[in-house]
Amino acid sequence: LRTVRVSLGKRSYEARIGHDLLGWAGKWLRQVMPSAEKAALITNPEIDRLYGAMVKQGLEKEGFKIATLLVPEGEEHKTLDTAAKLYAGLQAVHAERSTPILAMGGGVIGDLAGFVAATYMRGLPLVLLPTTLLAQVDSSLGGKTAVDHGPVKNNIGVFHQPLLVIADTFALRSLPQAEVSNGLAEVIKYGMIRDGAFFKLLEKNIEKIRAFEDPLLEEAVARSAAIKAAIVSKDERDAGIRNILNFGHTIGHAVESASDFRIRHGQAVATGMVKASAIACRLGLFPRSQLNRLKNLLLQAGLPVTMPEVEMARVIAAMEHDKKVQGGKVRFILPRSIGRVFIANEVSFALAVEVMEGGDD
Ligand SMILES: NC(=O)c1ccc[n+]([C@@H]2O[C@H](COP(=O)([O-])OP(=O)(O)OC[C@H]3O[C@@H](n4cnc5c(N)ncnc54)[C@H](O)[C@@H]3O)[C@@H](O)[C@H]2O)c1
Repeated sequence: LRTVRVSLGKRSYEARIGHDLLGWAGKWLRQVMPSAEKAALITNPEIDRLYGAMVKQGLEKEGFKIATLLVPEGEEHKTLDTAAKLYAGLQAVHAERSTPILAMGGGVIGDLAGFVAATYMRGLPLVLLPTTLLAQVDSSLGGKTAVDHGPVKNNIGVFHQPLLVIADTFALRSLPQAEVSNGLAEVIKYGMIRDGAFFKLLEKNIEKIRAFEDPLLEEAVARSAAIKAAIVSKDERDAGIRNILNFGHTIGHAVESASDFRIRHGQAVATGMVKASAIACRLGLFPRSQLNRLKNLLLQAGLPVTMPEVEMARVIAAMEHDKKVQGGKVRFILPRSIGRVFIANEVSFALAVEVMEGGDD
C-alpha cells in the first residue's frame, strides 16, 4: 500500500494505492465518517458486476445502508440530465448532508458523481474509487468535477475535493489494452514534465506495466499520482503551475475535438506531446535524441506519434476557437529535457501549424 497526500489545508486528503484495496473501502470510510448511517454508491452496470459486491460487503460490515445508483456506460451520459436522475435517486433514499457518495469507475463516473456530490444539498462527502488507469493517475486527484453540455466537454463544473481516494490496481486487470494505453499517455506525461528518472523506469519496464505486473504497475500509478498531487497541492484552482499538466494538450484537445471525440484523449495527447516536443526541437530548446526517446516509449505503450486522419483545417480552427491563439501566438507547454518543461506563451502559430503538417516529426 502506498499513500499519496494532496495537501490543501482543511481539504487535504489521501490517495491510497495498492493491490486488493476495494474491500477496505467500508473500513476506511467508517474511519473518516464515524457516524454516517447510509452511503450511496454511484457506478455503471459493468463495473458494478465486476467489483460492486467487494465494495458493498465491506460497507455492510461497517453498518452502512447502501443505495446503489447506476448510470449507463459512456461519456454521452456525463450530462445534466443524468445528474438530475442521480439527484432524484438520492432524494428517493433520503440522502442527507452527511451521506457519503462513493464513485466507482473511470473518469466519466468520477466527474459526474463528483459533480452530483458537489451540488446536491450544497455538497456531500465524496470518496473516489477510480477503476481506470487514467482515473487512478489523473482524474481522481485535484477535485475537478464536471458534466458536458452541448458540444463542449466539461463546461459545467465545480471544484469539490474528495475525502479519500482508493485506487485498487487489481481492478485495472479487467481493462482492455486500449484503455491501458489511454492512461499510459498521462503516465508518460508525468515523466516528461517532472521526473526524468521515472521516465527511464517506464522505458525499461513498459511491457511489464502493460502486463499488469506488480510491483511495477503500482509504482507507476503511485509515482504518477504523487506528481499530480504535488502540482495540484500548489495550485488548487488551476491559476499557475497546474498549467504544466497540459503538456501535449494544446494540440491534443484540438485533435480530439476535430475528430468529434472519435479519437481517444490519450491518443490525442500522445500526438500532442510529440508535436509540442518537435516545436521545442525546431526552436533549438530540446534535443532531437530525447524526442526520439519519447516517440519510442509512446509506441511501446501502444500510442500514436503522428497526426491522425483528421482534417487539418478543423484542428487549426479548434486551436483558434480555444482562445489559445492570440495575435498569431499560441501558449504551449514545451520540454527543455525529459523531466523538465516550461510555459511558453509566445510560440508562433505558423510554426505550430508547420510542425503539425510536417510528416518528419
Ligand atoms: N476531473 C479531472 O481532472 C479529469 C482529468 C482527466 C479526464 N477527466 C475526464 O475523464 C473522462 C475519461 O475517463 P476514462 O478514460 O477513465 O474513461 P471512462 O470513465 O469512460 O472509462 C473507460 C471505459 O472503461 C470502463 N471501465 C472502467 N473501469 C473498468 C475496469 N476496471 N475494468 C473494465 N472496464 C472498466 C468504463 O465503463 C468505460 O467503458 C472524461 O470524461 C474526461 O473529461 C477528468
